[in-house]
Amino acid sequence: MNVYDAERMADLLAPIGYQTVEEAKDADLLILNTCHIRAKAAEKVYSDLGRLRQIKATRNTSTHPMILAVAGCVAQAEGEEILKRAPYVDMVFGPQTYHRLPEMVARTHRETGTILETDFPLESKFDHLPKPKARGRYSAFLTVQEGCDKFCTFCVVPYTRGAENSRPTADVISDARSLVAGGVREITLLGQNVNAYHGATPHGTELGLGRLITELAKINGLHRIRYTTSYPAEVDDDLIEAHATVPKLMPYLHLPVQSGSDRILQAMNRRHNIKAYRSLVDQLRHARSDMAFTSDFIVGFPGESDADFQSTLDLVDEIGFVGAYSFKYSARLGTPAAAMPDQVPDKTKSDRLKTLQGKLTASQAAFNSKTVGSKMPILLDGYGRHPGQLVGRSPYMQAVHVSAPAEQLGNIVNLRIEAAHPNSLAASYEGENCRKAIT
Ligand code: 5AD
Ligand code: SF4
Repeated sequence: MNVYDAERMADLLAPIGYQTVEEAKDADLLILNTCHIRAKAAEKVYSDLGRLRQIKATRNTSTHPMILAVAGCVAQAEGEEILKRAPYVDMVFGPQTYHRLPEMVARTHRETGTILETDFPLESKFDHLPKPKARGRYSAFLTVQEGCDKFCTFCVVPYTRGAENSRPTADVISDARSLVAGGVREITLLGQNVNAYHGATPHGTELGLGRLITELAKINGLHRIRYTTSYPAEVDDDLIEAHATVPKLMPYLHLPVQSGSDRILQAMNRRHNIKAYRSLVDQLRHARSDMAFTSDFIVGFPGESDADFQSTLDLVDEIGFVGAYSFKYSARLGTPAAAMPDQVPDKTKSDRLKTLQGKLTASQAAFNSKTVGSKMPILLDGYGRHPGQLVGRSPYMQAVHVSAPAEQLGNIVNLRIEAAHPNSLAASYEGENCRKAIT
């Protein structure tokens, strides 16, 4: 979502004369878009700011001043702290106020001191954003939902991104249409809690995510739909049904489980237990037999015993995730888990993370190897590192490298998978035999 937000900021600034540059030293306005989810990401902001301060100082302040801004969730959560620790920053604004960027830029010219915008405004920023642009891409993100009301005990998101809020269906469909008109073939619907989506329709009713996907699938020229990130306890029948009935919906789902232990899930306030998670995976596989799952895991949550951790390892064996993000628990000030007793020593967290990641890597490699010899529809969406090489994505988000003519860029072609590497696949292009595929 930060990638998406950063692009939207660039879209907002274009009409007032800004364009993106590659190097920090060339920027008249430098926005650090930040993440607060774990302590490491948040701390990095201050070291990055120290470095950017020096770059700012090399510019001539009267002819080429640089506006230095901090955006995103660290700005939201630590606005005052940033003002204290980095008074040379000109603007600090949260994720819900970036639509005011042009106005904030104007204010930096007429006011002194740092501008701080971290309220949750009544107006929706989406009403103030220009239509998203394809920017020559074949795959694009589209935010449909923001915020989170789930309050997992480890997580800062409900505090930094605010309450759940869904964009009206007509706005989402209109944004999707303009992306597709610009050449986009694949859209990933985004939300902190994307399956909590319940957008207002022009008829005064509401649509959930499953029905929204069914509507989006009617757009000609849009060939693939994905969504992330989902909250397992809120996957409803309509969404499962969409996996069965909408071929454009990719058979791949990021479904964060966090832990394989019911006791820990309860302490995390996750609202699903392992039985329910397993049953959900079964229902989705029943809806579409080739469904593949990825997940998020936290190791070393307060009170996590060896037995709890073993349950997580067992779950990985059982589900056979095709990829995952896994993290050491990071205590975040103000969240309930940070004050829980039995914080797990860092060494134990590191050991557990290593064990878990070993298993997840093996599970991903096993999945990749299984695809060798098969043909898969690959959306070729970029150039590879080698001359004549294109890269694309399988339905399961695997990166696929192939030697193929550049005219195939933007097409979905059936390719034979020849080899599996840890993080990618190699495919062969058989000219006319690679019939164009559209699902
Ligand atoms: N410590 C470690 N990982 C966290 N996540 C969220 N909060 C924390 C935390 N305090 C992880 C969760 C979530 C992902 C986006 O980040 O696994 O799904
Ligand atoms: Fe954070 Fe996700 Fe839990 Fe919301 S559902 S509190 S975003 S981990």
